[in-house]
Amino acid sequence: MEKLMIRGGRPLQGTVTISGAKNSAIALIPAAILADTEVVLENLPLLSDVAVYAEILEELGGQVSWEGSQMKIDPSGIKSIPMPNGPVKKLRASYYMMGAMLGRFNEAIIGLPGGCNFEPRPIDQHIKGFEALGATVTNEHGAIHLHAKELRGAKIYLDVSSVGATINIMLAASKAKGSTIIENAAKEPEIIDVATLLNSMGAVIKGAGTETIRIEGVSEMHGCRHSIIPDRIQAGTYMIAAAATRGDVVIDNVIPKHLEAVTAKLMEMGVDIEELDESIRVIGKERYEHVNVKALVYPGFATDLQSPMTSLLTQAEGVSMLSDFVYSNRFKHVPELVRMGAKIRVEGRSAIIEGGKLNAAKVKATDLRAGAALVIAGLTVSEGVTEVSGVEYIDRGYDHLVTNLRMLGADVWREPAEE
Ligand code: EPU
Repeated sequence: MEKLMIRGGRPLQGTVTISGAKNSAIALIPAAILADTEVVLENLPLLSDVAVYAEILEELGGQVSWEGSQMKIDPSGIKSIPMPNGPVKKLRASYYMMGAMLGRFNEAIIGLPGGCNFEPRPIDQHIKGFEALGATVTNEHGAIHLHAKELRGAKIYLDVSSVGATINIMLAASKAKGSTIIENAAKEPEIIDVATLLNSMGAVIKGAGTETIRIEGVSEMHGCRHSIIPDRIQAGTYMIAAAATRGDVVIDNVIPKHLEAVTAKLMEMGVDIEELDESIRVIGKERYEHVNVKALVYPGFATDLQSPMTSLLTQAEGVSMLSDFVYSNRFKHVPELVRMGAKIRVEGRSAIIEGGKLNAAKVKATDLRAGAALVIAGLTVSEGVTEVSGVEYIDRGYDHLVTNLRMLGADVWREPAEE
């Protein structure tokens, strides 16, 4: 175990290049199970969750070679092996094994997912989708058992526009007989990325990125080459960090359209932003206006940037309000920020943040984005050293974080954490 040490107070300056999107990568790797020949994924982020997924595919008999940002997956040898325990328990997105294995073998046994548990995260909409496609689904001792004689297309209306359920249904329905329609589908860019890969593999999916997705099932899917979209949450985190430290940072390899909600909110606070084709420059200011932020599904302000944004709002004048309409209680970063001197109180699904100076403290990341929030907070503190433990959470979503921050001029390093 390690902790992150931050001697803050330096404006971030320079250029940071963003890697491929974590939340795409961990859906695209299991999607490769549906092919019968090699799938090559490019622009892959170097993250612990990606490594766990490679391990899962290898345990099933797949061949995975991973070099730098490219992964080659030969899924031809994959067998229908039950996975009630083991690496599937280490990450949340192992739920995609359900849709992918069901699509390929009409059966799967997958242990209930682990991952960042900032609040209970149900998968009832995934299960509803599998059942609509003709699968029987039971929970036996903490593992989900799925079985279908044959998958048949269906019309599925999601009660909540869930990213995971939308992708999981696309995976299984790609190999079902007939047409599937997902209504109230999630519209996140990662959904489009997964549909693009599946279509390159021979699937027939239309409407990804809108609330109605149509899938015509096919019997065969083949390998292909696919480049993963840039990680909009990593990009947004660096944008917020640049603003919080009153820096001047070019964030490169991004799709500015995916970042419109955060760009608009930063500008409303008084941050200067310049957009280019594939990069965004963020120029911080001494003083920021308070703002209200509502975290919503895409294209709204991303819930995954809600915690980093909390740290930035401690730097604004007056009182800001930040509400999360995706998760009702994603505020585990707040007590830690309060330890750093922040004046924040949580009321229902909102955090009310009074601007003011932070001080160095020993704090603990309890999930990935809470960790990012604490790092940003530490970067704003000009006296003393902030210690952030729980770095293993941050490593799930930010590759080369220390290297990147150091290149931007931050005084950040890792140290072994005392147990
Ligand atoms: N929900 C249900 N039932 C379901 C599924 C979801 O009630 O069957 C609810 C959730 O409790 C939540 C809302 O619907 O309130 C949205 O959840 P969603 O299913 O969209 O989330 P997810 O697919 O589990 C992904 C990302 C999260 C990100 C959310 C929202 C992955 C692996 N995870 O989770 O990313 O917060 O979408 O955009 O793609 C992160 O990167 O830090 C992270 C947590």
